[in-house]
Amino acid sequence: MSLNAERSYKMKLRDVENAFKYRRIPYPKRSVELIALLAISCTFFLFMHTNKLNSRLKEMEVKLQPSEFSALGLTGNHISGHDAGEHDDINTLHGTFQYLKSTGQLRHLTTAQLNNTPRAQVDTLFFNRITKTGSEKMMELLKILGKRHNFEARRDVEGFYEVVIMHDAYAKNFIRTEVINCTKANSYTKHVAFLDFDLLDEPWPIYINMVRDPIERLVSWFYYVRAPWHFAERKEMFGDAIVLPSIDWLKKDFNRCIEERDPECVYEQMEMGNLGDHRRQSLYLCGQNMAVCMPFNSHEAMQRAKKNVEEHYAVVGTWEDTNITLSVLEGYIPRFFSGAKDEYYALKKSLGNVNRNTYRPSLSDKARAVLSQNLTREIELYQFIRHRLYKQYIALKLEEDPKLRD
Ligand SMILES: *[C@@H]1O[C@H](CO)[C@@H](O)[C@H](O)[C@H]1NC(C)=O
Ligand SMILES: *[C@@H]1O[C@H](CO)[C@@H](O)[C@H](O)[C@H]1NC(C)=O
Ligand SMILES: *[C@@H]1O[C@H](CO)[C@@H](O)[C@H](O)[C@H]1NC(C)=O
Repeated sequence: MSLNAERSYKMKLRDVENAFKYRRIPYPKRSVELIALLAISCTFFLFMHTNKLNSRLKEMEVKLQPSEFSALGLTGNHISGHDAGEHDDINTLHGTFQYLKSTGQLRHLTTAQLNNTPRAQVDTLFFNRITKTGSEKMMELLKILGKRHNFEARRDVEGFYEVVIMHDAYAKNFIRTEVINCTKANSYTKHVAFLDFDLLDEPWPIYINMVRDPIERLVSWFYYVRAPWHFAERKEMFGDAIVLPSIDWLKKDFNRCIEERDPECVYEQMEMGNLGDHRRQSLYLCGQNMAVCMPFNSHEAMQRAKKNVEEHYAVVGTWEDTNITLSVLEGYIPRFFSGAKDEYYALKKSLGNVNRNTYRPSLSDKARAVLSQNLTREIELYQFIRHRLYKQYIALKLEEDPKLRD
């Protein structure tokens, strides 16, 4: 691969911003990879400095709270409301349970089948966090759990850029000097696309990640970059490098942006640019191969991501299913996560209800429908991940209470 990660460090932020911020530009084919890298790198800094925990927590307050069934309580309370009754909606915990039952899988389901943790070769929990999924919240939790379980909760060095895509030599060096360079049990967190430790001939860590509804992620990013405190913080951090955008831009409405086909809100299939709004959640799970992972909403990227999740991730959770995610983390990675639920709710309580409210109008049905049409694979991947999470959870519950198999 001809990527040149180091060079990106030297690129002046403003140059990159001007070139890629809010419009698509034509570029010669051969520089696609470099452009991709730079664009990702430079835009990542935008959200890195949400320093206050309160705002972090608020930010991820999610609307979709599915009913978590205690003891598989079959409450019939569905997330999306559709598909109730007629057939099993495997996008809900309840539906997944019904589906596993009706297909006879429930009888044979075990946690061992779904547990990748024992395959790790080092005592490192590797969290290659995805943008706008509430990873800051997870990092806070890891700090607390590190004290409780005697592991070191580490993260990358915060800087102007984030290197999300790496060429092999860079990746190998990164793994050796940072990820697995720790003598005691530890966690390591960074925004980076999935690294294949086999390909790099390095020992596998315990992989985890978090995802979020792809459409909610886009809305969240859209208003996040327009929030006044966001600019205030960036200005404080980076001074003159931060150029204030126009009032028109700041006041843009996401629904209108989509309906009017504003270039910022067009999601063309298979395109290779437009990295600034982090539309590709799949990239983080797909990996470093740009030809496969960069085309937007591609089938191949989705399939690669599914395979990596299945084979290499111990847990991919979501704050949209907070309790299920925490239970699965506790159950499948107890060395790092036992007691996570208690710690999480204690942390939340200690912070109280102080919120920083970002103005965020709701997404119109029309805009949602338009987005759904162009984010099909992103959505399918997200649903696949939730289905897997539910399955892991159900397997835990079955082992606690074998009667549920009947
Ligand atoms: C999640 O767990 C907490 C603490 O156990 C509980 O208070 C809360 O009601 C649960 N939330 C849901 C949606 O089940
Ligand atoms: C591991 O990290 C330390 C600093 O924390 C550094 O001095 C050392 O060179 C690193 N080891 C390797 C193998 O890179
Ligand atoms: C959806 O994708 C198609 C095909 O690439 C594209 O022509 C269209 O503009 C996209 N629509 C939106 C709203 O992104």
